[in-house]
Amino acid sequence: MNEIRLTGDGSTTLFSTDFGEHYHSVFGALTESKTVFIENGLQSLRKNPVTVFEIGFGTGLNAYLTCLNAQQNKRSVTYYAIEKFPLESPVPSLMNYPGLLATEEADKRIFSALHEAEWGTPVALTASFSLFKIRADLCSFHPEFNYDVVYFDAFAPDRQPEMWTKEIFRHLYEKLSPGGILTTYCVKGVIKRNLKEAGFRIEKLPGPPGKREILRASKERL
Ligand SMILES: C[S@@+](CC[C@H](N)C(=O)[O-])C[C@H]1O[C@@H](n2cnc3c(N)ncnc32)[C@H](O)[C@@H]1O
Repeated sequence: MNEIRLTGDGSTTLFSTDFGEHYHSVFGALTESKTVFIENGLQSLRKNPVTVFEIGFGTGLNAYLTCLNAQQNKRSVTYYAIEKFPLESPVPSLMNYPGLLATEEADKRIFSALHEAEWGTPVALTASFSLFKIRADLCSFHPEFNYDVVYFDAFAPDRQPEMWTKEIFRHLYEKLSPGGILTTYCVKGVIKRNLKEAGFRIEKLPGPPGKREILRASKERL
């Protein structure tokens, strides 16, 4: 079961009663997504075209921000997103992101298009954004595609420790392009250790309100 909640910056999030956890920061869903994944992930890499792999598609907020950012910056994005528990209608339509992020009707409609897109096949949502949603469990999924940026947006490690293991980070590292990055909101010591042991170089960066630091992990260039 999911309950809709309003966060500190006026954007909505969900509270999952199954996981006992919010989908985003209660201090601001939109602000968190922009800081962790767009500014310190997507925008910190200049590559064009660029391929993103999101862990936990959820409300589609990160995908939506990425799609709008691609349009604004004339950048071509291929976006893979894995999700084990897709949200059921009408939950996505109750999120207030289109009204907060877009003025043009066409841009507002992209949000519902993200959710209506078929699973397991590439869908060209706009001229600059292609979406491939994967309905699967990350714990038994080994990507066969390459990517430049990983948005690691799983529920917190104390709720879902099985998502944050060295083995999973190792699989993610294998298909990450040299110079590629993984960003996440979690800076726990054990997570940093697991990332390092999987091969990543770690960097702490200033976080959004309510979170002093966030993490960016990168793969050395060849
Ligand atoms: C913190 S929420 C993600 C929020 C999402 N990125 C957004 O912007 O709304 C974590 C997501 O991971 C998904 N998830 C949980 N366990 C998973 C698993 N084993 N494999 C893939 N996705 C999983 C949840 O259903 C949820 O959508």
